[in-house]
Amino acid sequence: MNGLKRNSILVIDDDPAIRKVLSLGLERLGYEVILAQNGQEGIDLLEKQKWEPDIILLDIRMPVLTGREALPRIRAMKPLTPVIMLTAYNDLATGLEMMKSGAFDYLVKPTRLEQISETIQRAVRFKDLMWDKIEQDRRNEEYKKNLEKTMESRTAELNETYQKLKAANLQTVEVLAETIEAKDHYTQGHCQRVRMISVRIAKSLQFPKEKIEALEFAALLHDIGKIGIPESILNKPGALNQDEIEIIKMHPLIGAQILSIVEFFTPAINGVRHHHERWNGTGYPDRVSGNDIDPLAQIITLADTFDAMAQSRPYRKALDLELILNEISSQRGKQFAPAVVDAFLGGKLYEGFIDTMDTAENQKR
Ligand SMILES: [Fe+2]
Repeated sequence: MNGLKRNSILVIDDDPAIRKVLSLGLERLGYEVILAQNGQEGIDLLEKQKWEPDIILLDIRMPVLTGREALPRIRAMKPLTPVIMLTAYNDLATGLEMMKSGAFDYLVKPTRLEQISETIQRAVRFKDLMWDKIEQDRRNEEYKKNLEKTMESRTAELNETYQKLKAANLQTVEVLAETIEAKDHYTQGHCQRVRMISVRIAKSLQFPKEKIEALEFAALLHDIGKIGIPESILNKPGALNQDEIEIIKMHPLIGAQILSIVEFFTPAINGVRHHHERWNGTGYPDRVSGNDIDPLAQIITLADTFDAMAQSRPYRKALDLELILNEISSQRGKQFAPAVVDAFLGGKLYEGFIDTMDTAENQKR
């Protein structure tokens, strides 16, 4: 047999003569043949020996357990083993009924050996195809699982890299923000406070995570453009003249230009560019109004103004909280976006930024 495994056939038939004829004929054709006398004996063989024949020949009319009764049980036990029914008379209806119940085919006895052989070969090919398909499906499934695993670990790696990059960028940005604070006469930590207040507002307005990340950069860097403004103007103790005011008003544009150099900052650019725009369209540099103002800027402008009022400047003490809140409320729909004011005041998002405030009230104590 060329070392190949012989195909095995379980013949279940109550007629000893038929068993003998089939056994001799099929063995001559190279099959391994196992015999059973009725349905129950066939099922016992399959069950007790956990044995897997390649093909089952099953007689319909038998004592103890008929082929009709045995078929569904055999199908349930060995769903991939083709069962060929044997019937004593040419009864097309019964044959078709058996095939509907899951038989592979049916043969009418007495059958010529060539015909049996031909049907069995067809059944073996069918079984091989089924197994190939199952094996193929299993391999596909395995491949899919491996691919998913690879994707998962790749995504995790990428995420980690991104987080590192983000942290590194944030540190750089924080240093930059401190540079602005040193150049301007802001109280220390202004940019960090604007960032923290802005994030609070954005969370309360349910901004998505990536918008909040961009907001953090924009808030920290909102005044980065002041790098391009002469210190003599920035720190001038007295009132500014019209020319000086125009120069100062350029800082949002300069800031946006600086951010446009680094691709990573793209989502933050308009947050910086618009941070002096006003809801009613009277701000600068673009004089846009309402929701044409970048949503990040709508938040930053309030946080920025709040912190500027709440901190002492060289030329004035910080304002009292009540006054600050009244001012913000009165600018609802004028300087500030109504939704942002509502979130800020309604959620008392200024809380926690009061204790550290250097207010005129605190100064008296
Ligand atoms: Fe500014």
